[in-house]
Amino acid sequence: MSRAIQITAFGGPEQLHLVDVEVGEPAAGEVRIRHHACGLNYIDVYQRTGLYPSALPLQLGMEGAGVIEAVGAGVTHLRVGDRAAYASNPPGSYSDVRVMPAKNVVRLPDGIAFDTAAGMMLKGLTAQYLLKKTLPVDGLQPGDHVLFHAAAGGVGLIACQWARALGLQLIGTAGGAAKCALALEHGAAHAIDYTSEDFVARVKSITGGRGVKVVYDSIGKDTFERSLDCLRPFGLMASFGNASGPVPPFPVGMLGPKGSLYVTRQTLFTHIATREATQAMADDLFAVVESGAVKIRIDQRYALADVAQAHRDLEARKTTGSTVLTP
Ligand SMILES: NC(=O)c1ccc[n+]([C@@H]2O[C@H](COP(=O)([O-])OP(=O)(O)OC[C@H]3O[C@@H](n4cnc5c(N)ncnc54)[C@H](OP(=O)(O)O)[C@@H]3O)[C@@H](O)[C@H]2O)c1
Repeated sequence: MSRAIQITAFGGPEQLHLVDVEVGEPAAGEVRIRHHACGLNYIDVYQRTGLYPSALPLQLGMEGAGVIEAVGAGVTHLRVGDRAAYASNPPGSYSDVRVMPAKNVVRLPDGIAFDTAAGMMLKGLTAQYLLKKTLPVDGLQPGDHVLFHAAAGGVGLIACQWARALGLQLIGTAGGAAKCALALEHGAAHAIDYTSEDFVARVKSITGGRGVKVVYDSIGKDTFERSLDCLRPFGLMASFGNASGPVPPFPVGMLGPKGSLYVTRQTLFTHIATREATQAMADDLFAVVESGAVKIRIDQRYALADVAQAHRDLEARKTTGSTVLTP
């Protein structure tokens, strides 16, 4: 048996219930992992509200770290007793122990603590594919400007540091002076308080009127259209989230006069579709963390049983950096 957080109906944080669930033996291609920590992510909110629909009841949680307890047939990259971590579908990391596909589970280097891993797998792999694979036609070179919304959040603070390591001039937006200071402290070249400043005007001024090569936009509805106005000709609009609500339909024709822009909607799960891709991206993330170039800030910790409060704080924009739940 395992304690787990489950929903039986879509809705607010009050739908999150601590229940006991049966955990069996791993089938072929699966492992059983006992969690030491799991991560909180904004996707957990979309799944709880039903914005991303799934069958119910649903055990939540997409990110975790712990020790492998059992290995199913055909799994060769993990052994019983291994320290391991993952960002993975299906959800279920809000638990003591679970059985899951082994494909997205990787061995954790000894130098990375369980709580650090739980705070970085989903967010760090996302920063990895955004900054290294979600690129404009002519790529990104050191010195190039990019705009990154929610720069003081979980994905945001990792992206600020990684962008600095890559030599990029990351312009970060964040809600309030304290969050802007945090983004700057973590490598953003500029920070804009988009709750009080016109971020389009600020981006134009910072880039000498040219605009940025890429906008990484996880805010969605509230920022999408203005983000397009921050791009230079042939720039790339990389939409990857909907913290303020989904991006409404828009006429593709508007991308022409704005400078022949490119628009993409990215999701981590396409990038980690194979074990090989997962491992390569995780190795890149582990290297940048072990080098010290990217530090994982865990600014909030909650007991697993207090997950509803964690969701309330995340949705109320009260959190910064990563949030870890401890079983
Ligand atoms: N597609 C993918 O592969 C992928 C993977 C991981 C994450 N994501 C997306 O990336 C974003 C960041 O994820 P995260 O887990 O690291 O969360 P987070 O950035 O720590 O938290 C979300 C932040 O969004 C900002 N925000 C702006 N408008 C908001 C609103 N109306 N309601 C709530 N928050 C609002 C807030 O920062 P300010 O107060 O500074 O505005 C808030 O702190 C999310 O949108 C998530 O869905 C996408």
